[in-house]
Amino acid sequence: MEGKGNMRKIFISPSILTADFARLEQECKSLEKCGADWIHCDVMDGNFVPNITFGMPLVKSIRKCVVLPLDVHLMIARPERYVEQFAEAGANLITIHAEATDKVADCLKLIRACGKKAGISIKPNTPVEVLEQYRGLFDMILIMSVEPGFGGQAFIESSVDKIRRAKELFPDVLVEVDGGINKNTAKKVIDAGVDVIVAGSAIMNVSDRSTAIAELRKI
Ligand code: DX5
Ligand code: ZN
Repeated sequence: MEGKGNMRKIFISPSILTADFARLEQECKSLEKCGADWIHCDVMDGNFVPNITFGMPLVKSIRKCVVLPLDVHLMIARPERYVEQFAEAGANLITIHAEATDKVADCLKLIRACGKKAGISIKPNTPVEVLEQYRGLFDMILIMSVEPGFGGQAFIESSVDKIRRAKELFPDVLVEVDGGINKNTAKKVIDAGVDVIVAGSAIMNVSDRSTAIAELRKI
């Protein structure tokens, strides 16, 4: 399945954005059983993005249900206000947006000071080069391949080049992609060098989640 001598591991991080929150424990356990590597938690504040989802208490509840690493994507303004609380809630990796604060470097340092991996995300119109100034302060780059805020949107094709560029400029950090990933777009981002794939609808909205996850991982 991994094919053609390519030993690269692709991590799959299903987004629970479209999960049934009334059955969150079963939903998260199902993802764990179906081969997910991480669980992607989309935190939205109705300010940095137009949508509102959930906060620290829900992350804390998920932490109790599964052993998988929690990949917490903060789509909130001035995330430095909440980093410690998400760390305490059980996040393993905390990703902030480069556009969300004027204290990006301090916020990345704070994430690491809490003993967590630090991620930095950019929206579709933000060039990868803006991350140069934060070199050495993050463990992962998250390339948004849709405008953040909602699941189920179409993949923005120019994200493929941004992934390639991110791997060129920062070969030692993980590159994650989020938005509009399905079997077809997964192939393109894997070819471009992506390490971690976030997928919401392509996993949550199908009955056979094991197959959906395995298919996204195919190299
Ligand atoms: C969008 C979120 C994504 C979203 C992905 O702002 O960050 O994680 O849930 O959903 P799909 O895979 O449906 O585009
Ligand atoms: Zn996300």
